[in-house]
Amino acid sequence: MTDARLSEARFRDWRFGLFVHWGLYSLPARQEWVKNHERLTDADYQPYFDHFEPDLYDPRDWARAARQAGMRYAVLTTKHHEGFCLWDSAVSDYTVAGTPWGKDLVGPFVEACRAEGLGVGFYHSLIDWHHPEFPIDVEHPQRDDAEAKAKAAGRDIAVYADYLHAQVRELLTRYGPIDIMWFDFSYPDRRFADGTPGGKGRDDWRSEELMAMVRELQPGILVNDRLDIPGDFVTPEQYQPAGPMTRNGEPVLWEACQTLNGSWGYDRDNLDWKSPELLVRMLVDSVSKDGNLLLNVGPTGRGEFDPRALATLAEIGRWFRLHERSVRGAGPSDLTPPPDCRYTQRDDRLYLHLFSWPMQHVHLPGLGGRVKYAQLLNDASEIHRVANDPDQTAQNTQMGGLPVDTLTLELPIQRPDVTVPVIELFLS
Ligand code: GLC
Repeated sequence: MTDARLSEARFRDWRFGLFVHWGLYSLPARQEWVKNHERLTDADYQPYFDHFEPDLYDPRDWARAARQAGMRYAVLTTKHHEGFCLWDSAVSDYTVAGTPWGKDLVGPFVEACRAEGLGVGFYHSLIDWHHPEFPIDVEHPQRDDAEAKAKAAGRDIAVYADYLHAQVRELLTRYGPIDIMWFDFSYPDRRFADGTPGGKGRDDWRSEELMAMVRELQPGILVNDRLDIPGDFVTPEQYQPAGPMTRNGEPVLWEACQTLNGSWGYDRDNLDWKSPELLVRMLVDSVSKDGNLLLNVGPTGRGEFDPRALATLAEIGRWFRLHERSVRGAGPSDLTPPPDCRYTQRDDRLYLHLFSWPMQHVHLPGLGGRVKYAQLLNDASEIHRVANDPDQTAQNTQMGGLPVDTLTLELPIQRPDVTVPVIELFLS
């Protein structure tokens, strides 16, 4: 296998990762887009820089929580759209080094991930709402401020692109081998209301050149698809695709990124939390379509995962401990599952994930005569198989009307007390 194929296989095998959105926006605690949404100026935003002091930051806690949840890689925002750098960049003063905390945050994160055996990725924002040469475009916090726009008329994106490239070089030379580079994002076709161009894309970032540099510095790395040129994997955001993803008709590596509550950055008053059950279903759904799930946590301004996030991760971990083999090392199956179920498969083991608990029987088309043994995965307790007789009509207490190639399983009335029940089927 070539290096690239090897990294792809590793990536696919990880299946489940941690996304971390952390920056100055953790302090206002109302989404990582707060500067844009509230049209804040640099001066408005300065207090967050002046008070950034994550005294409880211990990335070993993060890495441990991720590992226990079943995650096998982690991706950290080195810089988000606000422009603040989590490492002491040589080409910027707008970094953690200038805050009361004063110390690099990226290095300890990388070390902690490696100590837990997690793959390491860097999210890096292409957009920058602080850099003095980043033009005021449709996504900029000052997009409606005529005076600011007039002042910014001479900004030169080429100068910013040099800065972007220099920072990516720093990130990919200071911290040893990095597995994933996660750029965000391009919007080449966006225009202002008056029709003038207001987006950014490959020509602004000099994407081909940036990509070549990334690959030269880190030959084994996988790069996502948001540079406005094709990358190694595609990144559906806050939605689950309908099936395995393709590019030009060919299967493509993919990773769904999902939030715990709709916000990426710490969002104190948000109550839209997804249940652990929904999140486990998203993981299973991804694997059944040959994808990964990158699940986000937005740490607080003190550097911790808040109790709601930790409780969710812990519950996912309880499911994971008992069901790891239905997702890790497993992939899609050619068989079509019954309604409200997902199949994953590894060699001759087929995993039936039941998103709702059936009425004692579940009918599996195409599996008649093909299953040697069946058990609940959580406790290895046998599940009875009923062979169907095509000549039998359904009547009274007699089940029938099912083709011989349908296998019927007889389930206990009581749903096992796990987040998502799984039946392991041994195919003959
Ligand atoms: C986005 C957003 C964002 C988040 C992200 C994750 O497009 O701008 O805040 O970081 O993608 O996928």
